Amino acid sequence: MKIILTYGTFDLLHYGHIRLLKQAKDLGDYLIVGLSTDEFNEKKGKKSYYNYAIRKELLEAIKYVDSVIPEECWEQKIEDIKKYHVDTVVMGSDWAGSDQFEYLRDYCNVEFLHRTEGISTTQIKEELHDSKKINKQKVLK
Ligand code: CTP
Repeated sequence: MKIILTYGTFDLLHYGHIRLLKQAKDLGDYLIVGLSTDEFNEKKGKKSYYNYAIRKELLEAIKYVDSVIPEECWEQKIEDIKKYHVDTVVMGSDWAGSDQFEYLRDYCNVEFLHRTEGISTTQIKEELHDSKKINKQKVLK
């Protein structure tokens, strides 16, 4: 049984997330997602649209995801790897070379997967924000 672990906020779930999760699951037999809690996001200066409980519910409905655990701090990864007998930690290629993951190579495999171009939660938020402004202008006309 090959166990894969990945981390992230996965807010406003989109096809970039789904493709990442599919690639991750294809590397093994059991996929665990370390989902950033609302408190951890706050520490990272991030505020998600959906709270932790909803983001978890959405992830658990995806066929590639076997289990969701809370990601509460940067330092928990080695403990998670040992606790869940993780073979490989994966992240999208935007994290390649990051200090947050390279040191994990002493404990398990670390792989960076293809990141889908042209989509992110930040981009969705910006585009919805802009389109709302455009709609408002249309109504006012
Ligand atoms: N990811 C991906 N392709 C995308 C967006 C995200 O493969 N287009 C991956 C990230 O590399 C990460 C995981 O999905 O491994 C969760 O990323 P997250 O930061 O939650 O998603 P983003 O859409 O990048 O969110 P934000 O814009 O808030 O950074």
